[in-house]
Amino acid sequence: MHYLITGHTGFKGSWLALMLEMQGHTVSGIALDPPEKSLFNQAELSPIFKHDLRLDIRDRIAIKHAIEMIDPEVLIHLAAQPIVRESYRKPVETFDINVVGTLNVLEATRELKNLKAALIITTDKVYKNHNYLRGYVETDELGGDDPYSASKAAADIAAQSWIRSFAKVPMAIARAGNVIGGGDQAQDRIIPDLVNAYSSGNLPTLRYPDAIRPWQHVLDCLNGYLKLVEYQLSHGVSGEWNFGPTLSEKRSVGELVIAFAKSWGLEEKRWNMEIIEQPFETGYLLLDSSKARKELQWVDKLNFDNTVRWTANWYINPMKISSRELCASQIEIFMGV
Ligand SMILES: NC(=O)c1ccc[n+]([C@@H]2O[C@H](COP(=O)([O-])OP(=O)(O)OC[C@H]3O[C@@H](n4cnc5c(N)ncnc54)[C@H](O)[C@@H]3O)[C@@H](O)[C@H]2O)c1
Repeated sequence: MHYLITGHTGFKGSWLALMLEMQGHTVSGIALDPPEKSLFNQAELSPIFKHDLRLDIRDRIAIKHAIEMIDPEVLIHLAAQPIVRESYRKPVETFDINVVGTLNVLEATRELKNLKAALIITTDKVYKNHNYLRGYVETDELGGDDPYSASKAAADIAAQSWIRSFAKVPMAIARAGNVIGGGDQAQDRIIPDLVNAYSSGNLPTLRYPDAIRPWQHVLDCLNGYLKLVEYQLSHGVSGEWNFGPTLSEKRSVGELVIAFAKSWGLEEKRWNMEIIEQPFETGYLLLDSSKARKELQWVDKLNFDNTVRWTANWYINPMKISSRELCASQIEIFMGV
């Protein structure tokens, strides 16, 4: 099967492309150039793509030509401005990329002859924040306070409208939570912040140690996406799907830091607390993924402890192998679990 991934040069896109290639699929990608120290560059992933195109999804005409030229059988749309704090710095750009960019990608699929399924990736942050103690279900109201969350909620609604109005093949939306794993280099994300602090002998600075997040290993999240695509292909369904860890695996940012420090070989359970006023971020956010568990038979293969251990191990790299080999060996073990 020929997969097109938008955002293939990013954290999730890099892991997803390698996973698909290892399963024998043909993979193409459209995204911006990755930062120099990205996983995409570190793992030297460019040669695995049939087409590795660098285009801005805001450029509607260029995107249409590129997607028609690639002519994929499955589209997975990941490309986005995905960082909450960056969305406060660049709100209009964030909406432009996340909402208009998503519509441009969907529009570009209209004339495709070979497309069999498409999957649009949004986030757990699309749900209107009620600080529910239960997990959010797919039918809950969407909303968003910070510009990132609001832009993804808007992208989700825009995609739902486009799909109901124009889709000729099964098109679904996947909402997953905070993923962690080896190779993430994004600024303002917890694992890169911890790796940078511990590698240079510093203490990490935390903004919200008590915030509860649905931590999930990137491979569990991507496995969910791929199970959904299989289900779309075999059952011809569209719709929205949550992919979060079981509620018993929920942990705070502080607990994640303690577990990560332990895997890193540190006994100290300390961090600096950032005391300047912070832009708002949701305090309590959990997903109910019963639909995916029941209909796709999807389950998280890695519990919280293993999720943290696998992530830390990637950075520690005890066998001193290349980044590509590290990713491939974790994918191989994951698929066998
Ligand atoms: N990482 C997480 O914890 C997480 C959680 C929930 C949802 N998501 C969603 O998953 C998707 C991928 O996230 P990620 O963590 O891999 O992010 P990332 O920042 O590592 O990758 C983003 C990708 O999008 C591409 N991109 C950004 N702007 C673009 C533009 N204007 N035109 C073309 N390409 C553009 C980048 O080049 C890159 O390939 C996003 O849609 C994000 O909202 C991520």
